[in-house]
Amino acid sequence: MELVWNGKNREVCTTVLPFQSLEHVDEPRKTAPESPQFSLFDSRGRQLKGWTNKLILSSLKSGALRRQIEDAGGLKLIYIGPPFDVGADSFISMIYERLILMRDLLAEDGSIYVHCDWRVNAFIRQVMDEVFGRDFFKNEITWKRQPPRGARAVASQYARTSDNLLFYTRDKPYIWNPQFRKYSEDYIKSKFTNMDAGGRRYRVGDIGDYSAKSIERLRAEGKIYDYPSGKVGLKRFLDEQKGEVISDIWSDIPEVNAMAIERLAYPTQKPEALLERIIKASSNEGDLVADFFCGSGTCAAVAEKLGRKWIATDLGKFAIHTTRKRFIQVQRERKEAGRNFRAFEVLNLGRYERQHYTGIDSSQAFGMTKDGGATNDPVISTEGRNLTRREMKQRILQQKEREFRALILRAYKAQPLKDAGFFHGKNAGRLVVIGPINLPVGRLFVEEVITECRKRGAVRVDVLAFEFEMGLFPAALDEAKAKGIDLAPKYIPAEVFDKRAVDKGQVVFHDISFVEATPRYDQKDKLTLQIELTDFSVYYTQGAAEAAAASLKNGKSQIMCEQGRLIKISKDQNGVTTRQTLTKHWTDWVDYWAVDFDYMRRKEIIMVPKNADGESDFEERWTGGYIFENEWQSFRTRKNRELELISAPQAYERPGRYTVAVKVIDIFGNDTMTLVPVHVG
Ligand SMILES: C[S@@+](CC[C@H](N)C(=O)[O-])C[C@H]1O[C@@H](n2cnc3c(N)ncnc32)[C@H](O)[C@@H]1O
Repeated sequence: MELVWNGKNREVCTTVLPFQSLEHVDEPRKTAPESPQFSLFDSRGRQLKGWTNKLILSSLKSGALRRQIEDAGGLKLIYIGPPFDVGADSFISMIYERLILMRDLLAEDGSIYVHCDWRVNAFIRQVMDEVFGRDFFKNEITWKRQPPRGARAVASQYARTSDNLLFYTRDKPYIWNPQFRKYSEDYIKSKFTNMDAGGRRYRVGDIGDYSAKSIERLRAEGKIYDYPSGKVGLKRFLDEQKGEVISDIWSDIPEVNAMAIERLAYPTQKPEALLERIIKASSNEGDLVADFFCGSGTCAAVAEKLGRKWIATDLGKFAIHTTRKRFIQVQRERKEAGRNFRAFEVLNLGRYERQHYTGIDSSQAFGMTKDGGATNDPVISTEGRNLTRREMKQRILQQKEREFRALILRAYKAQPLKDAGFFHGKNAGRLVVIGPINLPVGRLFVEEVITECRKRGAVRVDVLAFEFEMGLFPAALDEAKAKGIDLAPKYIPAEVFDKRAVDKGQVVFHDISFVEATPRYDQKDKLTLQIELTDFSVYYTQGAAEAAAASLKNGKSQIMCEQGRLIKISKDQNGVTTRQTLTKHWTDWVDYWAVDFDYMRRKEIIMVPKNADGESDFEERWTGGYIFENEWQSFRTRKNRELELISAPQAYERPGRYTVAVKVIDIFGNDTMTLVPVHVG
């Protein structure tokens, strides 16, 4: 039997795309640990060698990770808790392709656990049977999340209180460490009814087929029980028992409640105890564990604590940010306890994903060489004339770019403009232009936008882009304003690659922010400085709040940004609108900020295939970018809402000019970076 749905596709893209390395996080150790691993760390205690854990802003797509995973010995365990409350249809097609990729990434002795509930477990079970094979089904675990309460308990059916975990292995044999839990008090009282002279509880079991000699040995150890009848039994002491073997019903792990210490205010956060059981049962120390829907990062956090290596991916910026903070906390705790920890890096597919999506890097199309100039032979006839390969390729790229722009406009809920020349769409009385797909928007582009607006007599324009040149704002906005143009730059989020989110209109385009950081030089020590965060503001769209209020339905509310403030606009049942300012001071926007005191030190190197087949040899190439090294950071946690605004002092080893990078992450998980040139000595 096989499950079939519209658009079922067994062809999974396995192209290897390089990752863009955005950040490196390695809570500085005071001194390098004196351990056999010493050579893993530099003089400041930073990890130099070995596997670096990976936190990736992306959905599992293509074979991007394959090489690193293989080099690290393969994936031994995958746990995923995908979003299964989105409707079975779109969910199944999304998960199917990813499960195929996951199976290929799993080591021969690896296991996978898929977390779901009654809404999709019947479908996933069938899909898993197809992808992994019915023979490799091990268990459907029922996790009793919580006792029934509230509406769940009074519904006209049995209360729904459980989730399911489908456990499959890749092959046989597989890693398996049986897990036990303490016997319950009731069980102990009913079974371990005897007590020896020393107060040790025991139960009496059958002696089995022990030889007379063994029985003598056991008697010497005080383990033989003499029945009045003269028969003997075996004493099983409670303190020597492993406990009750864990079955497929888990009712001893409560879900993360509002008061739990581990709670991070991430709505679907799973308890660490749940992941602890899974990771201990199906992996060993040093193994590589992955969660491709990491949310708040529970699986990877537990993996780290249990000495496993990890990969965590999620499509949402907020999830990645929540996980990033969680890991810095874990690193800090382990550092304080004098224990080892690994560095982690934050990656995304960023521009490579865009290029791949649009095919704009398809230098191999039609067998062309890397410089695109292999041949000019006329090959294809169309519209009554012959096109060279180069022209043909150009046309295909243009078509792909058009399709990509149409997708972005749809996600932005803008109407496409036909023959509008420079502009691509319009939205609520504003023109919309999409920046270049594979380059950051720079000053020249902004100037062109202003010129084109003036030509058309337009005064309002939105500029959508994946990246803006650093330092472009606020100057470029002031310039536009001086020319009477209200220019609103917006980031195109990674979610535009998620068709489901686009179809549902859930893609949010965030406003651009501006960071100001100031070096504070030490008066005495010329080589030392601190960095102070002196301003952070978010640009806004004038009049957007009014427009939002007008379109808001009664009884609803919306959070938005206006005049650099975050406001909540609510409409009651009678249509009366109220506004509440949520951010009173610029610092209220900031959730996290970090400093790299010498940004240009670490070049971003990627591995690119040497040949067109994408599978053969790889070579290293500098992307022209740098990796942000989190050398100092301050952030808010649920318990501690305080933010430090001045960094710890940094003492440079040598006098000179350096470029300091300051990264700010706002309360929505969006990041902005600025560069501060400094001169010490
Ligand atoms: C149920 S939550 C996971 C919760 C997680 N186990 C924890 O303990 O916090 C599902 C996550 O999947 C992410 N997500 C949704 N669609 C995705 C996709 N196509 N690829 C990767 N992540 C996705 C969401 O952003 C969300 O964080």
